[in-house]
Amino acid sequence: SSLLYMTSVLLLDEPPLMNGWIPFLGVALEYGKNPLEFLRSIQREYGDIFTCKIAGKYFTFVTDPFSYSAVFRQGRNLDFQKFALGFSRKVFGHADFNAPMYSGSYRDIHPIFRQTLQGPVLQQLISTMMENIQMVIRRDDSFNWVTEGLQRFVDRIMFEAGYLTLFGKEDEALVSGGGGRGAPQWLSMRQAMEDFHAFDKALPEMAAGLPIHLHLKAFRAREALAQKLHHRRLKRNKCLSALVERRIQAFDKMEELDEHGKARTHLCILWASQANTLPATFWSLYYMLRSPDAMRAAQAEVDRVLRESGHTPENLDKPVVLSKDQLDGMLVLGSIIEEALRLSSASIMIRVANEHFTFTLDSGKMVAIRKGDHIAMFPQMMHMDPEIYENPTEFKFDRFLDENGQRKTDFYKNGRKLRHFLMPFGSGVSECPGRFFAINEIKQFLTLTLCYYDMELQDPAMPPLTTDCTRAGLGILPPKQDISLRYRLRRWVPTH
Ligand code: HEM
Repeated sequence: SSLLYMTSVLLLDEPPLMNGWIPFLGVALEYGKNPLEFLRSIQREYGDIFTCKIAGKYFTFVTDPFSYSAVFRQGRNLDFQKFALGFSRKVFGHADFNAPMYSGSYRDIHPIFRQTLQGPVLQQLISTMMENIQMVIRRDDSFNWVTEGLQRFVDRIMFEAGYLTLFGKEDEALVSGGGGRGAPQWLSMRQAMEDFHAFDKALPEMAAGLPIHLHLKAFRAREALAQKLHHRRLKRNKCLSALVERRIQAFDKMEELDEHGKARTHLCILWASQANTLPATFWSLYYMLRSPDAMRAAQAEVDRVLRESGHTPENLDKPVVLSKDQLDGMLVLGSIIEEALRLSSASIMIRVANEHFTFTLDSGKMVAIRKGDHIAMFPQMMHMDPEIYENPTEFKFDRFLDENGQRKTDFYKNGRKLRHFLMPFGSGVSECPGRFFAINEIKQFLTLTLCYYDMELQDPAMPPLTTDCTRAGLGILPPKQDISLRYRLRRWVPTH
């Protein structure tokens, strides 16, 4: 294959290379400041494919959305897991699942994502989430106006509800008030949320290569979270999700793993399920509250769906239960969420070349790719392209609705319809397996907060919040700072 490659290099060009000024770091500093602007400026100068040396590695960026499919078709030459598992091992400290001793059994573990997060089984997850969100809201007891950070409000409800939905609830008899063994569950969830944020905050530095041991606070937080996820504790919990139950069984069969090592693999799931969902929920609620039209349309949709499912929105006498079909049919909320995702997503998709090979762009241009190079796609460039999305920095709640109120899927560039136009969840083999659950849980959150609370931004005239781009590449960007929310309960949350 080397000979073949040498021949192809003689005939073909490699993509233009940006080395940057600083050896080793390459362009990391310029990239890190504002990746979108940085990549756009290189694209303007060098075209749709170019290589950047970032922190000692070569990343070849494919920026033309019509060429994305060509990357996804290169499954044989481009590996996803090698990079993803390597990164997650560094950050979460779990075993090296790329190593031959594990890779056989890990092959059986990966399909569990799809089997337990998609299709009919999703209904169970959704029902548990609906109960758990209402359980957390039920603890609020003020009919007077309260002020709290919007991010804080979202995080405290969604973190606890999401955590309990995947990892189950502690048995009441074993926590204080019952057997007196530990803190009440909500307090332990509050601590877990603090630990989660302490760990997550250090992630950009860890992604840039800083070993976690040098970040003592993040390391301690990670280990404290892992302690909660030891199998002996998880097995005592009620209502474990099928995802976690199946992973417990699978890891118990891997004799080489110790108990703490197994817990750290569950931590990956905790991170994957929360790190993007929390800021995505924040932006969905934030943009909805800022737009009177969005609020009106969302409230009308929520009231309609509640009525259709036998509730009286003005006078709820039982907890809200909605089926997956009903949530799927909430297209206004769907459009609000997709628009919020478009504006805040900055994921980077990375594949590693297994072999030297020739990559053909949509334009027909061919370039030589070297074994070991990283191919990267940064869909934020597409999400912010004014040719695809008119006034791309503006929130338009109905951007993803067509004239009949159905989901809009036709978006164009150069007069051609795009196959991939919105990619907050990635695409191809690495596409987020939790994406249906994620969209549904944000819809549930919006539905339930609209149903139980009166809410408004304390200062609606405040200039729009901006995203924190130091986390670009890691998914949904959080806001640079929090903003005050005023809310009050409209009614008690009924119990069964
Ligand atoms: C992977 C986005 C919520 C589970 C990913 C990836 C992205 C993503 C971009 C990586 C794709 C790539 O590398 O190409 C999001 C967003 C979410 C969300 C934007 C919320 C708005 C969730 C939830 C769960 C979840 C709720 C689980 C319950 C996973 C898992 C992976 C993953 C397990 C790794 C998949 C693999 O290794 O193949 N997600 N995600 N995600 N996500 Fe999500």
